[in-house]
Amino acid sequence: MKVLVVGSGGREHAICQQFLKSSKIGEIYCASGNGGISQIATNVNIPVNKIDDFSKLANFARKNKIDFTFVGPEIPLSLGIVDYFEANGLEIIGPSRNGARLESSKIYSKEFMRKYGIPTAKHNSFSNISEALKFLDNYEKGQEVVIKADGLAAGKGVYICNNIEEAKNVVNQIMNYKIFGSAGRSIVIEEYIDGPELSYLIFTDGVSYSIMPTSQDHKRVNDNDQGLNTGGMGAYAPASLEMANDLNKKAEVIIRKIINGIKTEKIKYKGVLYAGLIIKDYCPYVLEFNCRFGDPETQAILPLLNTDLTDICVAILNKNLETLKIDWKKEFSVSVVLSSDGYPGEFETGFEISGLESITDKDTAVFHSGTKFESGKFFTCGGRVLSITSRADNVKAAIDKVYSNVKSVYFKNMHYRKDIAWRAL
Ligand code: GLY
Repeated sequence: MKVLVVGSGGREHAICQQFLKSSKIGEIYCASGNGGISQIATNVNIPVNKIDDFSKLANFARKNKIDFTFVGPEIPLSLGIVDYFEANGLEIIGPSRNGARLESSKIYSKEFMRKYGIPTAKHNSFSNISEALKFLDNYEKGQEVVIKADGLAAGKGVYICNNIEEAKNVVNQIMNYKIFGSAGRSIVIEEYIDGPELSYLIFTDGVSYSIMPTSQDHKRVNDNDQGLNTGGMGAYAPASLEMANDLNKKAEVIIRKIINGIKTEKIKYKGVLYAGLIIKDYCPYVLEFNCRFGDPETQAILPLLNTDLTDICVAILNKNLETLKIDWKKEFSVSVVLSSDGYPGEFETGFEISGLESITDKDTAVFHSGTKFESGKFFTCGGRVLSITSRADNVKAAIDKVYSNVKSVYFKNMHYRKDIAWRAL
């Protein structure tokens, strides 16, 4: 079979790596890929960040007799790539545009949660700035509050404000100065819940589902969860909270409610659904939905997968996922992101990456994000550059293994967190 993966990050490299292991896949294409992906797949230089790009990619899929396409990032999903491919008779894994609204509109996702009894933070939505500012006057001045832009804002649209003055400033930036453009036309103001976060991902064909090992992302750029929020500086799986106080059972109740909502609303959903949970008093609350694999969670989760990802995709496409038993390694995996110093702000690129050839241990994998391959060498070309993932039968051994491999790699201005998976120790 031939598969086309859409995306260009570490997540997509991890997805391509799984297809490489599949005896059923003969050729892997990736649009638009990266330096690392080019070593195991054919990079296809077609961007998919605009609706206008879809016809080019669909033509490519048809011409090259691609059996199915797997979409990594949220933007093409939110723009309706799945609807477009299906309307053109092409098989594709991902939610319809309607399903992707669970991620692309915070207001819609909150409404969905309310309708289907899914626990989430108390919230109100506003499309009028005066009303939003007036509403904030109901709070004590020192109250913490969360402000969210309704639309997609490249992971930057959520603000945890320490007091009401800060919150009003954020509302002004989003709705008056339009720092996120139309994504900030409406906002959600919600109660702040303090607690550890958990990434809860499932495969689903829209009717049944299969839960993946839980994972935990590390969003802040520096150790001890300090500094700016990033796309994620590392993850581990399964998360240490998994077994505590029936959390899994409570989370599964939430998943069943989500699937019930998807069925009742007649949403076409084939692929991965990611519930971002926060845990308070041993109870999970849904912070947000993502309509896709997480990055860097995928780099921690997929190395634990024993079942052929192609079989999972075929079962999803045939809507018989419930007949497939998905098997995971009973191990821990820890994934550390190596980034360009300065990220998520400004950073320099173009530096040669050395030492990758010395990572040879079979329980460690290197996934590329912001890299390019030129004249036989890898160079940095993005904020998050690489993820290194190691597996072991306990979390401490996985941490030791991954950091010993990280030490083999070098590029100028390399930055990484030294405390990934600290909660598991
Ligand atoms: N790691 C968070 C995300 O993928 O959105």
